[in-house]
Amino acid sequence: MYTTRELTELVNNTLDTLHLNRLKPDNLYEPISYTIGLGGKRIRPVLCCAACQAFNNGDPLPALDAAIALEIYHNFTLLHDDLMDNSPTRRGKTAVHKKWNPNQAILSGDAMSIMSFKILSEKYPAEILKKIIIPFAKLSLEICDGQQYDMEFEDRDDVSAEEYTDMIRLKTAVLLGGALEIGATIGGADAVDTKKIYQAGIDMGLAFQLQDDLLDVYANESILGKPTGGDIVNNKKTLLLIKAFEKTKGKSREKLNDYLSWGTDKKAEKIKAITELYNQLGIKEEVSQMVSDYTENSLNNLKSLSCGEDAIMPIIELANKLKSRAF
Ligand code: IPE
Ligand code: IPE
Ligand code: MG
Ligand code: MG
Ligand code: MG
Repeated sequence: MYTTRELTELVNNTLDTLHLNRLKPDNLYEPISYTIGLGGKRIRPVLCCAACQAFNNGDPLPALDAAIALEIYHNFTLLHDDLMDNSPTRRGKTAVHKKWNPNQAILSGDAMSIMSFKILSEKYPAEILKKIIIPFAKLSLEICDGQQYDMEFEDRDDVSAEEYTDMIRLKTAVLLGGALEIGATIGGADAVDTKKIYQAGIDMGLAFQLQDDLLDVYANESILGKPTGGDIVNNKKTLLLIKAFEKTKGKSREKLNDYLSWGTDKKAEKIKAITELYNQLGIKEEVSQMVSDYTENSLNNLKSLSCGEDAIMPIIELANKLKSRAF
């Protein structure tokens, strides 16, 4: 069985062997090679390989191509997300839409999305491909649904906690759930375990996005590698903001609405004022508790899998790590 670190090395080395920088046309593949080359945590491919080895006697290799496809797909979503969120940095470096231009982020992103489907269809025989391409296509479309809700919610002030949870399930959690589901399927898991591990990934993904939303307010920007405060500036309806709405009435609600109306000329003041309000209302603690609760749900599902706890140690380790991540 591979450890988390060994799985990460396996994924990194395999991505290197793709030699993306050698593909033509240069202008299409340079941003791709740049983005993948910046690394990132590689959570999704590691989850995919870890799920495979859990049901395949400790051997993750059959899932490696699917893991690579998932990571390339994830990087596609980041190129488009940074353009949509007008976010200037990613992984500590200039985002593709700024380093090149918006059209480049769109086209290089599209190419990555297609590459991921190409890898799956070339690398897996028909009987396995059928079982994995359907969940992959499903989650791909769900991410678009989630990103659409995320944008639409910017212009609404009546988004409920339920709507928020469903939005982050779609934009983020289905990719973690899908990574585990696809890895387990390739490893030969039965239908009951596949369903359970998918649900474990969904809960892990919900915790992950809640933590991401906390980090957007509270992280050290140089460690996070992407700007903080962007969600506040964009009026993103994170659970932090939804809770702030729930907890304010009368004058303090008017104040909050006023802050939200401030434009980009008052960026720093807006971030400061809303962060202070979150602090007064104890929102950080409340959302952190929810991160722990979702992680707990995920761990409970993981521990009920038929392969036993020892076989899923890297997944358990990752779930625990994500809960307290600082980047
Ligand atoms: C960023 O994902 C996008 C979200 C879903 C919050 P990661 O935080 O996994 O990004 P990298 O791949 O490690 O850079
Ligand atoms: C990420 O949401 C969702 C996807 C990339 C699909 P965010 O917009 O919060 O991600 P970051 O914070 O930019 O990484
Ligand atoms: Mg973003
Ligand atoms: Mg976004
Ligand atoms: Mg974010």
